[in-house]
Amino acid sequence: MDTTINQGMGMQNFLNTQYFNDYFNNGYIDTGVSLPAGLLEEMKNHYKNVAEARNDYPQYFSKNEHQAYLEGKVTGSLFALFPGLANKMVTKLYDKSYNKAIHLEQAFIEQICSHLLQQNFQRFFKTRFIVASYDIYLGNDHNHRSFIDVHSDIPNFHHFYETENDLTIYVPLIDVNEQNGGRLAILPESKGKLKIPGNVLLKLFEESFLSNPDYLDENGYIDSDKIDDKAMKDFINGEPYKALMGNYKISTDFAKDYYMDEFIKNDWKAGQVVLFNNKIFHAAESWRNPDYNREIYMIRLLPVYDSKIRLKKTLHGSQFNKYLIDTQAGTIELHQHGVDLSKIPQQEKLKLRV
Ligand SMILES: [Fe+2]
Repeated sequence: MDTTINQGMGMQNFLNTQYFNDYFNNGYIDTGVSLPAGLLEEMKNHYKNVAEARNDYPQYFSKNEHQAYLEGKVTGSLFALFPGLANKMVTKLYDKSYNKAIHLEQAFIEQICSHLLQQNFQRFFKTRFIVASYDIYLGNDHNHRSFIDVHSDIPNFHHFYETENDLTIYVPLIDVNEQNGGRLAILPESKGKLKIPGNVLLKLFEESFLSNPDYLDENGYIDSDKIDDKAMKDFINGEPYKALMGNYKISTDFAKDYYMDEFIKNDWKAGQVVLFNNKIFHAAESWRNPDYNREIYMIRLLPVYDSKIRLKKTLHGSQFNKYLIDTQAGTIELHQHGVDLSKIPQQEKLKLRV
């Protein structure tokens, strides 16, 4: 047996070689699957009926943990000194970006993943178990700018379990192309090897919290809900985490300053299902069509590592981390009380450390 399989942290351990190459060179994988027109209509209707102007993004800014990202928009020190004011600015920023940003409805995850699995979705993956963690709907008209700045989606403590290899099922619900705009510009990993080392965060969690029994659940996994505010604050203010944020800022600047002409934009049809990694650099293109809105639907997929970190069960009051995909059986299973990673045999997980 090839001993390199299932070892190390790269996307090549998550994806089968052919598809890893697509990801590495093009920045995304075309699944070859489109959602049926009826399902697309159902999704659009579902989100049309969700309150106008609902934007779930500002909820992620309740902790002082995104200084690197906020720099240039709201400085980190402003956020620390005047959290109320900074929160208002963040809310305004997000309201300017999207008409609607709806997280965690979780209404279409099972249906979409089942549809994909029926069409051999499992062939893309080298690893056996994948958590279908949560979903996001983004809607904006041409007056809302969306996330047009170059960024990588920064790991955060609300999810508490994010890796550099998270994969997103990305479905435009409308056509994105030259005429409409709204495409995703992606800097493929091959272009500059610029990628945030996100798995450092999992390692730092373990180093900081695994040795304290007060923070562990009955299986010896770190339970983030048991970590007190002081310990969490110390972690966020500690040198290793600061260094990771510094790395984020520097890499983002490099991407903006030296790699802008290497981003790739692709035309995707309404309902076309593609896979991309939100931990590589990307930016949305402005939406140009005044006649209807840009609508994007995403499901975040997390590869399962052998790290001793328990998945959170709720995010901002909603359940998540409930669906487990088994790529060997070709199934998606609902875990009503959340996926319990301690029940998955260690040898079926990706190794955090080789
Ligand atoms: Fe993003």
